Amino acid sequence: MLAQRLDGVKPSPSMAAKTRVDAMRAAGRRIVDFTIGEPDFPTPPHIVEGGVAALLAGQTRYTASNGTPALRQAIADKLLRENALAYRPEHIAVGNGAKHIIYNAFAATLNEGDEVIVPAPYWVSYPDMVALHGGTPVVVPSSGAQSFKLTPPALEAAITARTRWLVLNTPNNPTGAVYTRDELTALGAVLNRHPQVWLMTDEIYEHFVYGGAAHVAPLNVLPGLAERTLVINGVSKAYAMTGWRIGYGAGPAALIKAITLLLSQSTSCPSSMSQAAAAIALDGPQHTVTEAAALFEARRDRMVQMLQALPGFSCAPPDGAFYVFPSVAGLLGRRTRAGQLLATDVDVVLYLLEHAGVAAIDGNSYGMPGHLRMSFATGIDVIEQGGRLLQAALADLS
Ligand SMILES: Cc1ncc(COP(=O)(O)O)c(C=O)c1O
Repeated sequence: MLAQRLDGVKPSPSMAAKTRVDAMRAAGRRIVDFTIGEPDFPTPPHIVEGGVAALLAGQTRYTASNGTPALRQAIADKLLRENALAYRPEHIAVGNGAKHIIYNAFAATLNEGDEVIVPAPYWVSYPDMVALHGGTPVVVPSSGAQSFKLTPPALEAAITARTRWLVLNTPNNPTGAVYTRDELTALGAVLNRHPQVWLMTDEIYEHFVYGGAAHVAPLNVLPGLAERTLVINGVSKAYAMTGWRIGYGAGPAALIKAITLLLSQSTSCPSSMSQAAAAIALDGPQHTVTEAAALFEARRDRMVQMLQALPGFSCAPPDGAFYVFPSVAGLLGRRTRAGQLLATDVDVVLYLLEHAGVAAIDGNSYGMPGHLRMSFATGIDVIEQGGRLLQAALADLS
């Protein structure tokens, strides 16, 4: 019964980790959960109230497939205000989350065998979404020594005549890497030599940057690529609105039209009340976003400090997003009390879950074995408790 194109498509590891944690908790285990990929606080009240008011005012019907004019205008205003990018509402398509727009962008553009360059470590969904549409993900590894960033020579070497997209995620999930102006300029110089390659910029974590780091919208530095760039963003992370499912893409009219066609034949339109709430989020006061960023920065600092004190862990402070990506190479080769060898990061994840009651995600799932992804979108008390549990479990290794 099942289509061949499902062969090899994996379920999202972060969703799978959440299911595992939920099942262990339901069985009575206490778990410190560092797998969470969303803010741990509720949507700000003024946004929720805006959604409720929209419902009461009768905004309960289908909307335009690419989103309401009010929301697309709010997005155009946001892109100009925050990113100095000028888009008209007809160059914007709203979907059920940024993920939905990325999915439809690949659906709209990939033919069998087309290649998509995905720098590793990557957000887990890109390669599978590419494969689902007949494309070939071309994974380009990086290293901690390059702050987990794609370099111009590595990009140049990965490009072929079949390359259709480069997916650039800044700030990055899972590493927190944030591309600087100079780094973007250098990558742009490579793309300028290859007009067949389009640029997809996933900027969903743009507001969460720390220390001296600043988010730079790639197109802002590379305006010459506007006719072949799709800017991806959404309200999930910035406004703690993951469950409302609103994200968007901004790009050339022909691409947005093709994405809109797919939206119209699949979901018809995003939820009307969620769109009303998203417009309020974007148009309204922004202090909740800066407060969330300050909160995450304090948690980042505590998380990094906690991990740096653990034997076998090595963790550089991330510049953005809300994840750390420590190396656990120092634990590989060690044995548990039961004599089991920790040969891979997946073994480490399972050991920490079983013996410390601490949940993390293996770096292998993000295309970078030997690491863990741990979210600090959780309270400082939880981070400290996790640290104590990890210390005890690591002390048991021989
Ligand atoms: C890098 C990245 N892009 C996109 C998304 C999807 O966000 P949305 O909730 O808007 O679909 C996520 C969610 O985890 C993400 O980490």
